[in-house]
Amino acid sequence: MSSKLIVGNWKMNGGLAANQVLLDGIKTGLGAMRCRVGVCVPFPYLAQVQLLLANTSVDLGSQDVSAQVSGAYTGEVSAPMLRDFGVRYAIVGHSERRQYHGESDELVALKTKQALAHGITPIVCVGETLAQREAGETEAVVKRQLAAVIHENGHCISEIVLAYEPVWAIGTGRTATPEQAQAVHAVLRAQIKAATAHAERVSILYGGSMNAANAADLLAQADIDGGLIGGASLKAADFLSILQAAHRCAG
Ligand code: 13P
Repeated sequence: MSSKLIVGNWKMNGGLAANQVLLDGIKTGLGAMRCRVGVCVPFPYLAQVQLLLANTSVDLGSQDVSAQVSGAYTGEVSAPMLRDFGVRYAIVGHSERRQYHGESDELVALKTKQALAHGITPIVCVGETLAQREAGETEAVVKRQLAAVIHENGHCISEIVLAYEPVWAIGTGRTATPEQAQAVHAVLRAQIKAATAHAERVSILYGGSMNAANAADLLAQADIDGGLIGGASLKAADFLSILQAAHRCAG
């Protein structure tokens, strides 16, 4: 198995001074960590963070990417623009974008396609709301969300990173149990396997209140290949603890 992948999603947090402090802290503690690491930062800080991460093993990511390549799309940022700043990952379909910006499964699939077409690895987020979980719809919801992305991207699906983020666990301190997360990851893994002969390339991350205390148990699950970390990626010590848990999984 390849090493675990831990990605920080800063969301709409940070500032020039705070970013420097955070990244200095992460770089100092990074050592020879045996895991893959990325940080997805707000667009205005891509240039700053690209410089701060130069000559480190931490990859740069954005939190979104346009479904369009260029033109009259006010406020959008295209995949080629992200490439200009050395962006390796782009989060697509985060539940906060689905919820507050009305992003549909089809739009998420098109954004995925744009990222792939320009050499950026999309981190495709899927996940159910609390109401959907309580109605027993979890499996159907995540399968529908992933199916749209598979439909649009065909065999290229082996080049994505997938993130299962139950909406009810995001920013709530209420984490899915390792068993709950593993059950959904297994469903997603089976769906990817049915779509490509190279399913082993797809890392499936868990996201939703992952922190220093629960990371090891979540990462120990067979189908949890890493984490997408919100709140706990904003403090170097917290983020480093999660990296250490991932490092220990490498044996
Ligand atoms: P929290 O870790 O703050 O719950 O956020 C998870 C998330 O949404 C990562 O994309």
